[in-house]
Amino acid sequence: MELSFAPMEGVTYSIFRTTHAQLFPGADRYYAPFIAPDGSGRFKTGSLRDILPENNRGLRLVPQILCNHAAPFLAVAQELEQLGYEEVNLNVGCPSGTVVAKHKGAGMLADLDALDHCLEEIFTRCPLRVSVKSRMGLNSTAELSEILRVYRRYPLSLLILHARDRAGMYKSTPDRESFALALEGSPFPVAYNGDIFTPADLQLLADRFPTLTQVMLGRGAVANPALFRMCKGGAPLQAEELHAFHDALLDAYLAAGLAPQHTIARMKELWFYMLCMFPDGGKTGKAILKSRTLSDYRAAVDMLFSTCALDSGAGFAQ
Ligand SMILES: Cc1cc2nc3c(=O)[nH]c(=O)nc-3n(C[C@H](O)[C@H](O)[C@H](O)COP(=O)(O)O)c2cc1C
Repeated sequence: MELSFAPMEGVTYSIFRTTHAQLFPGADRYYAPFIAPDGSGRFKTGSLRDILPENNRGLRLVPQILCNHAAPFLAVAQELEQLGYEEVNLNVGCPSGTVVAKHKGAGMLADLDALDHCLEEIFTRCPLRVSVKSRMGLNSTAELSEILRVYRRYPLSLLILHARDRAGMYKSTPDRESFALALEGSPFPVAYNGDIFTPADLQLLADRFPTLTQVMLGRGAVANPALFRMCKGGAPLQAEELHAFHDALLDAYLAAGLAPQHTIARMKELWFYMLCMFPDGGKTGKAILKSRTLSDYRAAVDMLFSTCALDSGAGFAQ
């Protein structure tokens, strides 16, 4: 099974990815959080920095674009080609209200004719392989068969399906029965995404879909950075290696010049996920999330690692 690390805005940026790839090798590919170009294809320098090859050594990266017109998509794709990329991913999954209101992300599923036109132009002119990461519907996963009809007109290099509709945000039960439709007779490879938080979850999925060859892991791999290794039959996560990963990340953010306040905020975002691995970590976890200075933050983290047991069998829990 090929396993990729999902793009997670605010979390899986280049420092996170390279530190993860170094200390927890096992992800076959990483998808970068979306680049959001304006109408002429210009985008933030921070997004460029995030995908520069020199900032992504030691891993296979696929950049992702969030936009609903071919022209800006193609302008960014051309820059990506110059940087040496061979594949670009289109975001048709972002459920955020502001994004959907602009008919971007999962909002593209509101008008399948517009999606079709956009894909037609992209696939006629894009110099790179194009993969799509998509929800299975806007308001219902019953929309999937119509959506597949559009995707199947084009030579996608991969269709990654987050097995929910947009209305389900990140909470509804993934609809695996509908996902089966996408695998059946697909002209391109299809990857599954959604709520795979432990090796047992992956096994159940593989048992249900014996022909499935690609799975994308997101929140589960942020909670347990050893999830890729464990899913491939490797050793369970140890507290010491999670501690080392944490310290390496903290040091890397500070060394990159991120202000201590912003570094703490980044790390707290991670703890939202990683605390799931500490069933008795409630009180100490709160101290981590409440800390304001680096010294208070470090003291709370040290307290967690010295007093709370890590359960490698746990996983992300909503
Ligand atoms: C905080 C956060 C940020 C995300 N950012 C992106 C993004 O930039 N691009 C994207 O396609 N999906 C994004 N997603 C969705 C994830 O890639 C993934 O589809 C989702 O978390 C479901 O997979 P999981 O259950 O394995 O976490 C994000 C999800 C979260 C929770």
